[in-house]
Amino acid sequence: EKGGYDHFMLKEIYEQPSVIKDTYRGRLLSNKGIIQMAGIEDNLEKFLNAERIIIVACGTSWHAGLVAEYIFEEFARIPVEVEYASEFRYRNPIINKKDIVVAISQSGETADTLAAIKLAKENGAFVFGVCNVVGSSISRETDAGAYTHAGPEIGVASTKAFTTQITVLTLIALRLAKAKGTMSNSDYHRYLLELEMIPDKVAEALETNDIAKEIAGIYKDSPNCLYLGRGYNFPVALEGALKLKEISYIHAEGYPAAEMKHGPIALIDESMPVVVIAPKMGHYDKVVSNIQEIKSRSGKIIAVVTKGDTQVRELADHVIEIPETSDALSPLLTTIPLQLLSYHIAVMRGCNVDQPRNLAKSVTVE
Ligand code: F6R
Repeated sequence: EKGGYDHFMLKEIYEQPSVIKDTYRGRLLSNKGIIQMAGIEDNLEKFLNAERIIIVACGTSWHAGLVAEYIFEEFARIPVEVEYASEFRYRNPIINKKDIVVAISQSGETADTLAAIKLAKENGAFVFGVCNVVGSSISRETDAGAYTHAGPEIGVASTKAFTTQITVLTLIALRLAKAKGTMSNSDYHRYLLELEMIPDKVAEALETNDIAKEIAGIYKDSPNCLYLGRGYNFPVALEGALKLKEISYIHAEGYPAAEMKHGPIALIDESMPVVVIAPKMGHYDKVVSNIQEIKSRSGKIIAVVTKGDTQVRELADHVIEIPETSDALSPLLTTIPLQLLSYHIAVMRGCNVDQPRNLAKSVTVE
């Protein structure tokens, strides 16, 4: 049932090209230039009139929410807030009738997310769910929703759920951008085509497995690791760090690269590996100067770069190349080598990859 893979996590990492495709199949019709999702079409007016979107989630799903914040604001120009469900529910939050609450959950059973939804409904907000498990509590409790089609995720560390959540949220943002006229027609059509190329590019990104394994062998005994990214890839830095800590028990932290100089830079010395997400699009030059700052303090640099990159290659100790895509879609690719890196480090450390200590697949208690 692991399909020839040693662990469910690895199987699920490798399923990503096909489950991303499953997630947009029937929804993204690039030849007609349309995106159709029943949960959105049926409630389009609500979305178009929304004054704010509040995303609630936990863990990896919260990271997908952060990526969505950047995408929604850029594409559809709707203000977005991303909240840990556990904080939101206990804060007496300000929720208005014109707010849409989007709950993201793989399992659909996370207690804090469920409680946040109930609170939002009591306050009159429209609640939209992005769940993977069909018929789950969150999918039933929400007013409408869109499923990710990731299939069962068995490994406790979430992988394919994350990329399919980002896929669904990108589709929604594009649909709203078209309806609101906040994106040019040419950009809109370009994104539809680029999204259709993502599964093949994820498959190509999976070819980084050997280099990820090699790098894992070098750093598997490090007690700490930093992950840095900017813009769309800041949440990917958080997710990369979470993946490493939860399955390998190495202390890891993700930061927006520019926050380094406000504290974490003090940690950097020759024994600190720093994973930097530095694709060519986006804030490339800024990330390059962050890499220089790390290098001048002798930190070890593992950089995720766009294929053909030369500038970062000169500075970094290791580079992992991924295919080119637009900045907004890059998290779907940059995430892949980070999943593989964590996986190999955990295996080499003899950890129980699919069932890490102290963790449960769905957290049904607060
Ligand atoms: C991380 C992980 C957890 C979950 C979190 C939310 O790999 O698995 O952080 O992402 O418990 O779970 P769901 O998405 O089921 O609500």
